[in-house]
Amino acid sequence: MAMDAFEIKGGRPLSGEVTISGSKNAALPIMAAALLTREKCVIHHVPDLSDVRFMVEILKSLGARVEFDGDTVVIEAAQIREFGDYELIRKMRASICILGPLMGRLGRARVSLPGGCIIGARPIDLHLKGLRALGAKFVIRGGYVVGTGSHLGGAEVFLGGRVGPTVLGTGNIMMAASLADGVTVIESAACEPEVVDLANFLNAMGARVEGAGSPTVTITGVKQLHGAEHTVIPDRIEAATFAVAAAVTRGSLTIKGARPDHLGAVLDKLREAGVKVGRRGQDIVVERSRNRLKPVDITTQPYAGFPTDVQAQMMVLMLLVPGISVITERIFEARFMHVPELCRLGAEILIEGPTAIVKGGRPLSGAPIMASDLRASAALVLAGLAAEGETVVKRVYHLDRGYQRMDEKLRRLGARIERVPE
Ligand code: UD1
Repeated sequence: MAMDAFEIKGGRPLSGEVTISGSKNAALPIMAAALLTREKCVIHHVPDLSDVRFMVEILKSLGARVEFDGDTVVIEAAQIREFGDYELIRKMRASICILGPLMGRLGRARVSLPGGCIIGARPIDLHLKGLRALGAKFVIRGGYVVGTGSHLGGAEVFLGGRVGPTVLGTGNIMMAASLADGVTVIESAACEPEVVDLANFLNAMGARVEGAGSPTVTITGVKQLHGAEHTVIPDRIEAATFAVAAAVTRGSLTIKGARPDHLGAVLDKLREAGVKVGRRGQDIVVERSRNRLKPVDITTQPYAGFPTDVQAQMMVLMLLVPGISVITERIFEARFMHVPELCRLGAEILIEGPTAIVKGGRPLSGAPIMASDLRASAALVLAGLAAEGETVVKRVYHLDRGYQRMDEKLRRLGARIERVPE
């Protein structure tokens, strides 16, 4: 893999318009859902990201025909096998979402234990628990999860885990249950908009999924699913990242084609901090303001709470605000990999268990720093935009997993950011 870095010269306010790409976290399970039918599925508004390219390769390794052209993916899974490419799947956490479709369609699966961002233990016990309730059997052999269970049946499944519901786990159970005999009721289902988008796609394929977006989802199994066409929702995390980018540079930005209704918690916190942010139809508008910003406390929670995927970016804003902000991470315990790197820029942050205490108001000054996971890298880029002097963010392949051409989008907004070979 070619290693790139970003060179950022900070201190310039962003201004203008940016258009949000399709949601990565919605697109990945929706692409996997196309495995549930032999017919052709056409999925629009798919972001061009390395994670999506990975999923294309995974689906191909399972025997599907896949074309990715512009922002449209066409998938035809006429003949598939249960055995995915070990190395491919291992590289991406979200590849676990092929497990539900394979069990639903074939009653067999062989999937390597997934990898992905190193942000704490990311078990799949709830995925397996849910699928077992439908009648599947699993063993771990040679690093693979091997599933069997040729006749899945509806069941009641409680999916609340140690820290709450599971997003991809809910998706996996919805997908498998769509082709199971009888009715499945998921209790403590994840309510994220990406789960709703997947349910909408499944229903377009002929599935009967009701209640998605609430903690109780009911799936009535059908004999088979057919091809469908679908447009993926905008990426709420990308939209939030740009909103915070506007705030940290004291800029003004129109974020187009977002879904402000998916961003209630983030917009609310930005306003509480004193950022002038509003909505105009489907756009989010951040206005330049001379207001003094105020520290805020944030606790990450399942949807509709403050998203863990925006925690790192928000921390950068808090660094610029005089006073103490307290950020508590409730979803992924080790998700503070950005903290030591931010400290290289002059930040003062103390970590106490799941809590980061941010002593804001110190000036940030540019330095070489290194990205460690997807959202952490977004935070480092925002910090570079806000810092004085030059910041070099290394290993931006983490960022490329989840943000479509972020450097180009930022450059068009006036940021001085260049992609260079590391
Ligand atoms: C998805 C998102 C990710 C986001 C996360 C939480 C995708 C591709 N990724 O990840 O960007 O940060 O939701 O909003 O959609 N857990 C268990 N057992 C399980 C599954 C999860 O204990 O079987 C725990 C996890 O360790 C974590 C919590 O549950 O602490 C939530 O994880 P989960 O919702 O499953 O995250 P993902 O779906 O993997």
